[in-house]
Amino acid sequence: MTFEEQLDPDPVIAFGNWFAEAQRQSVPQAEAMMLATADRDGRPSARMVLLKSWGPEGFVWFTGYQSRKGEELATNPRAALLLFWQPLGRQVRIEGTVRKTSEEASRRYFQTRPVGSQVAATVSRQSRPVGTREELERAYAELAAEAGEGPLPLPAHWGGYILKPDVFEFWEHRDNRLHDRLRYEPEGSAWRRFRLQP
Ligand SMILES: Cc1cc2nc3c(=O)[nH]c(=O)nc-3n(C[C@H](O)[C@H](O)[C@H](O)COP(=O)(O)O)c2cc1C
Repeated sequence: MTFEEQLDPDPVIAFGNWFAEAQRQSVPQAEAMMLATADRDGRPSARMVLLKSWGPEGFVWFTGYQSRKGEELATNPRAALLLFWQPLGRQVRIEGTVRKTSEEASRRYFQTRPVGSQVAATVSRQSRPVGTREELERAYAELAAEAGEGPLPLPAHWGGYILKPDVFEFWEHRDNRLHDRLRYEPEGSAWRRFRLQP
């Protein structure tokens, strides 16, 4: 089967097939992805986040809204995602525009998290400096004592983002560095795709 035949014409379905394969093959943290953002001057920054859900509407992760990524996305909503499944020799690149998930969706996800994670998300001003680890642990312990069994309310500074893709690229390792690459771009309500040189 050619690479073109192997990959569904709909990139969201193609992604789903590859993701399922990564899970079947027990790739460690198959849902870990790199998220690249840039500030208003175009200075890029990258970090890992966990893909929590995805579909035709986009790719979702959760984080602190006042973090560096949050501040960059507030001024420049364009971002890129990268997943690499090393044992399969596959990477998927996704680019698009990001918006916050609804507060309801963030709350629903927040409530599924263990109370310890809820406490940490509530006390952490993600990406701000903190003097010592002890300060962090004190803030955690104080709120954990108050929270008991929980649940805690969704903090205003925490929630989901959803990236609506406008570019996908599927890449697979081949011998002699003659790798397979297929790029998808929107065309009307469908997608057109073309092979890229390795
Ligand atoms: C495998 C892995 C998964 C991570 N998942 C998340 C996540 O889902 N959400 C999150 O806010 N940070 C996650 N982090 C931490 C981020 O990489 C990063 O340190 C944090 O979000 C602050 O980034 P920023 O200062 O660029 O906003 C993860 C780190 C690793 C190594």
